[in-house]
Amino acid sequence: APAAPAKVVVRAAHLVDTQSGTVRDNPLVVIDGDKITEVRYDGQVPAGANVIDLGSATLLPGLIDCHVHLTGDPNEVKGDYYEAILKRSAIDSAILAPIYAKRTLDAGFTTVRNLGADDYVDVALRNAINRGDIPGPRMLVSGPPLGATGGHADGTTGFSPWIEFHGIDGVADGVDAIRHRIRENVKNGADVIKFMASAGVLSAEGSVGAPQYSQEEMNALVDEAHRWGRKVAAHAHGAEAIKMAIRAGVDSVEHSSMIDDEGLKLAKQKGTYLDFDVYNDDYILSEYAKKGFPASTVEKEKMVGRLQRENFQRAVKAGEKMAFGTDAGVYPHGWNGKQFAVMTKWGMTPMQSIQAATVNAADLLDMKGKVGAVAPGYFADLIAVHGDPIKDVSQLEHVGFVMKGGAVDKNEIKR
Ligand code: ARG
Repeated sequence: APAAPAKVVVRAAHLVDTQSGTVRDNPLVVIDGDKITEVRYDGQVPAGANVIDLGSATLLPGLIDCHVHLTGDPNEVKGDYYEAILKRSAIDSAILAPIYAKRTLDAGFTTVRNLGADDYVDVALRNAINRGDIPGPRMLVSGPPLGATGGHADGTTGFSPWIEFHGIDGVADGVDAIRHRIRENVKNGADVIKFMASAGVLSAEGSVGAPQYSQEEMNALVDEAHRWGRKVAAHAHGAEAIKMAIRAGVDSVEHSSMIDDEGLKLAKQKGTYLDFDVYNDDYILSEYAKKGFPASTVEKEKMVGRLQRENFQRAVKAGEKMAFGTDAGVYPHGWNGKQFAVMTKWGMTPMQSIQAATVNAADLLDMKGKVGAVAPGYFADLIAVHGDPIKDVSQLEHVGFVMKGGAVDKNEIKR
C-alpha cells in the first residue's frame, strides 16, 4: 500500500475567504491527504508538517467554471470550418481533450461542469481523471446535450440531406423521446442534464434566441431529470426561451443573454442560477472570421454580445443568484480567468466575481462542503496569485500555484 501522505501546510500572506467575503492575513492551511483539516492564523506550524511557503502570495480556493467544453477548442479551426468539422470524429476530440483539461487545471480551475459533448467523450475524460490516469479538474459532465431536430444541439443542420452523420448526439423531439434520451444519458454516466431551450450563435439555424422546445417538452425534461437526481442546465439566449426554461424548473440558465424584467423576477422567485458567459463576445468578434468560421456566426454574435453584457449588469443590480460559467471551448482553454475582468467591468465587485466562481458555483453544482472554500473538511483545492485579486481581479489570469486534492499541480510562485 502507498505510504500515508505526510501532513502538509500551505502558508501565504493572504487568503481570500470566499464564505465571509473577506481577506485574512497570514493563513496556514493544514492538509491531511486530499482534505483540509484546519485553517489557522496563529502562525503555529503543526510539528512534523511539510511546509509549502508561498511568501507574499494570496491564496484562494480552486476556481470553478460551471460551463466548459473540454472536447473542443477554436484553434482546431485552421482557416476552414468545414474541413475541421467534416474530417474529424469523436476520437479526434478524445485525443485532444486531455490537453485542454490540463490547461484548465493549470489556469487554477480545479472543478468544471462540462455542458455538452458528443459520444460521451466527456464521461471518459472525467473517469480517466478520477482514476488518476491523467491530470485534470474535477468534472461534472452532461454527455450529449438534448435539443430539437434542426436546433442548437443538431450539428447536422445546414448540410445536404444526402450526407448521413454517425455518432451519438442528443437530438430528441417530444416528451417520450426526451424522457428516453435523459435515461440514456444517465445510464451512460451523465452527472447533469444540458438542453437547448433556444437557438444559438454557433449553430446553423437563423435565429439566435427563439425557443426550440415547447413548454410541455421543457416541463417533462426537468421532471425526468430531477427524478433521476440530475440538475438541469438550459442553454437560452432569448427572453421567451429563458422564461419557459425557468418556469419548467431548470437549475441554471446558461448565456441568459436577452433576459427581460419578468425573467429576472421569475429567476429570483424560483432561485434559478443565471450564468452569463460575458467574455466570449470579445474572442468571437476578434478571432472567428480570421479562423474561418462561417460569417453567419459572427453576424449572430453581433446581435447578442453587447446585450448580454448589459443584461448581466441588470442581473447583478437585481441581486440574482449568479455563478461563473464561461463556455470555454468557444475561446481557448486555459483563458477562463479572463472573464473576471469583464464581470467587474459590468457591475460586479471583484469579491462578487470570485464568489460566483467559488461558493455560488459550488452551490449550483451541489458540491458545498467539498469545493469553493478553504475550510476544514473541504478538498485541498488551492490556488495562489502574486498580486491582490481584490484590487485587480485580472491577477486571476496569472495563477502561479495550483493544488488539487492535496497534490501540487504547479508552483511558479516567486518568493
Ligand atoms: N455556445 C454559445 C452559442 O453558440 C456561445 C455564445 C457566445 N456568445 C456570447 N455572447 N456569449 O450560442
